[in-house]
Amino acid sequence: MQGAHIASVGSAVPDLRINNEEISQIVETSDEWIATRTGIKERRILTGKNESVVELASLAALKALNKICMDPIEVDLIILATSSPNDLFGSASQVQAKIGAIKAVAFDLTAACSGFVLAIVTATQFIQNGSYKNILVIGADVLSKWIDWSDRKTCILFGDGAGAVIMQACSQKDNSILGFQLNTDGKQFGQLSIKYAEDHCVNNTLKLFKGRFQHIAMNGKEVYKFAISKVPASITKCLETINLSAKDINWLLLHQANKRILEAVANRLSISTEKIIANLSKYGNTSAASIPLALDEALENNKIVKEDIVAISGFGAGLTWGTVIIKWKC
Ligand code: UT7
Repeated sequence: MQGAHIASVGSAVPDLRINNEEISQIVETSDEWIATRTGIKERRILTGKNESVVELASLAALKALNKICMDPIEVDLIILATSSPNDLFGSASQVQAKIGAIKAVAFDLTAACSGFVLAIVTATQFIQNGSYKNILVIGADVLSKWIDWSDRKTCILFGDGAGAVIMQACSQKDNSILGFQLNTDGKQFGQLSIKYAEDHCVNNTLKLFKGRFQHIAMNGKEVYKFAISKVPASITKCLETINLSAKDINWLLLHQANKRILEAVANRLSISTEKIIANLSKYGNTSAASIPLALDEALENNKIVKEDIVAISGFGAGLTWGTVIIKWKC
């Protein structure tokens, strides 16, 4: 079996910043409420006409490729984790064309805020079984396009962004993806969703209906409780399968949903809060992008160094949640 490792990371966010004060002009809220309940101070929002997740995802991908001087033509597979494509048939093929990765197979993976973890694990399988050598994994979302800007429970939380990693084959002894643990609880799908609802009949005789997607709807309290109980359990299970313990973790890199969730998970695992990687104050919850966006920043700041053990967990709609544990090699 081949080994797999992350060779490069890149990220991209839109230029427009919207801070809590500005949000307070749209809905009844305050900087104080948002900052203390979530840790978020501002978020980036994609506004350009016809700009979509494709532009952000492509930019993040090109940055990751440039860092290791890799020609896009060498990419074998592109997995785009997104829940906000600009085409229901998928956006990954547009990213493939935009970056000139003409030899790559490309597909979307939809798993909301767990999407990046699931995409890393999927890419690892293709590498470890010898199918592909160079895989571009992107987590990108523009949930601002799906927000009800009059709903203060959700509109304060989300921001847009993209993060990309290049995963490559390596020798088994240099394998960096130590283990993973994934879960789904479909009975709870209604806790967080963007539902498709049929709202009018287009042909009465044949009973043909047409509808549209609604806005993001979330039962915040329930999702919060789910996250702080299931994520520590997933990390613990994953560590057990590879004979490690929470003490071995150098960095805890969780989906950037809420600062209080990050701290509660660290506390439950008896991990010092100093080991938490967090940048949500600047970007809010960027869904599938949040983990690679925070990873890129942590690497730029020389936080994560060679041989560090990084526990990465995603959680969100589905409900889905999961962990991948990485020994950093670059
Ligand atoms: O990315 C996928 C995963 N998503 C998550 O992990 C999100 C998980 N949930 C959360 O992070 C938190 O539940 C929220 C940040 C969404 C909400 O925080 P909370 O501490 O659970 O607040 P709450 O929903 O219990 O609301 C408390 C109060 C309510 O007022 P009453 O009923 O106590 O009078 C809300 O109406 O705060 C009110 N409230 C607000 N007040 C000012 C709710 N949203 C706001 C707001 N500004 N934006």
